Amino acid sequence: MKILVKKTSPTITTPCLIFFTPEGRTSPQLLAQLDDHFCQLVTTAQRSNEFRGRHAETLLLHAVGTSGPNRILLVGIGKAGDASLDKLRQAAGSAVAVLKQKNISKATFSQSDLVIKKTTAEQQAQAIVEGILLANYQYLRYQHPAPDTAKPLEQLVLLAADAKTLALLQRGANRAEAICAGVHLARDLVNAPGNLKSPEFLAMQAVAMAEKNGIKAHLLDQARLQQLGCGALLGVAQGSTRPPYLIVLEYAGDPTGAAPLALVGKGVTFDTGGISLKPADKMDEMKMDMGGAATVIGTMLAAARLELPVNLVAVVPAVENMPSGNAIRPGDILTSLSGKTIEVLNTDAEGRLILADALTYVGRYNPRAVIDLATLTGACIIALGNQAAAILGNDDKLIDQLLQAGQRSGERLWQLPLWEEYAGQIKSDFADVKNTGGRPAGTITAAAFLQKFADQYKWAHLDIAGMAWEDKGKVGIPRGGSGFGVRLLIDYLLDEAGRA
Ligand code: BES
Ligand code: MN
Ligand code: ZN
Repeated sequence: MKILVKKTSPTITTPCLIFFTPEGRTSPQLLAQLDDHFCQLVTTAQRSNEFRGRHAETLLLHAVGTSGPNRILLVGIGKAGDASLDKLRQAAGSAVAVLKQKNISKATFSQSDLVIKKTTAEQQAQAIVEGILLANYQYLRYQHPAPDTAKPLEQLVLLAADAKTLALLQRGANRAEAICAGVHLARDLVNAPGNLKSPEFLAMQAVAMAEKNGIKAHLLDQARLQQLGCGALLGVAQGSTRPPYLIVLEYAGDPTGAAPLALVGKGVTFDTGGISLKPADKMDEMKMDMGGAATVIGTMLAAARLELPVNLVAVVPAVENMPSGNAIRPGDILTSLSGKTIEVLNTDAEGRLILADALTYVGRYNPRAVIDLATLTGACIIALGNQAAAILGNDDKLIDQLLQAGQRSGERLWQLPLWEEYAGQIKSDFADVKNTGGRPAGTITAAAFLQKFADQYKWAHLDIAGMAWEDKGKVGIPRGGSGFGVRLLIDYLLDEAGRA
């Protein structure tokens, strides 16, 4: 989609002019202007209580024999006091839903009159454009012809009151475009079906993205992983005929050569459970078990597009978890890259096995901090549902920074405790540690397992099991991969880079 920022004029021609309207009150000036064009329709609609400006409420009106816009779309942003960037983003998304449904492919947004406390015009433009781009996303690779409902918006104009605002809006729009490129890539990767999406496919997609964006990429193949001794990762991979990769991406944005921030993403391209086979119901969704990897790869793309002044390294262990004559069995003992031995009690707890080696490997970079993202436990969905990802870790400051980025971005996190007593549940009788801790506190014992491999640096773990996949589809996220975490991480990185 094309996004343009233009100076406003009283004689705008556009198929649809969009106004954000707070609940209860429309500024008299705006109202007069709208009524002028639309034969008092706006006042009439408000009087009839057909449109109150409730959050994400919409009203589409047609101009009657006037010049100027052909239509007007009022979009509620709710009570002025409660308005936030996240609400604005969602309101913009609900506008897109109307435009798509009515087959309107070009629209103009007016931001004048928008009041959101403690925000700049740049931030508002960013939120609006993000809302639009996220809602406009579709995965149509396998649908011929595209369904009727799939008419994306082609062009969008943002109106600026003056030259100074124009520059701000342009900056906000550019930022949103870079970030949403990352979210869209993450969604595409998650939505790709398991037959296409081998570990090699994921590796090739990451390399292609890196080459186009000035990011260094290298792949550790099976032979190299054997040489290094990545026994945990290789153990999970051995049930599949498709070989594993450890994908490493490096983005150098800070010329001072400061220690990198590291991102680690679980890349199980399909999780059958292995010999501890999952039930058939909804197993198709397990193509999303590389959601952490997708978010990390998407974040690298967005960071490069934004030219963030930070050094980043991304490590993605990519494997397929299959049952076969070669697969690992319950009771098997694997020797990880760290040297620690792991008793595999359940082959379906495979994410922590591959992450163990990835977390050890990333230590080579002496990272300033490590953040891992993983669709790690069903227990996380039981705890938090689909409203927040769980965060756990060994550094309160890092966790607080991420919690705040979650608040700002609307991609929320909720902290769970990682008291040392939980580690008691993963003590093994036969090895250094076992890969399951029973049903109680499943998300925490999974993190306690990871912690054993993340003791060299500041570390936070995000369990995104309930967030990586949108089951029904909602404003801004069609059914399928959500790209959850890209906006959150970029928000954190902007903060870290002092540019928020
Ligand atoms: N990938 C799953 C977790 C998952 C479940 C993600 C549902 C998204 C939706 C993970 O590999 C898994 O199977 N975890 C097991 C661990 C258990 C065997 C200790 C689980 O949560 O049941
Ligand atoms: Mn599993
Ligand atoms: Zn899994």
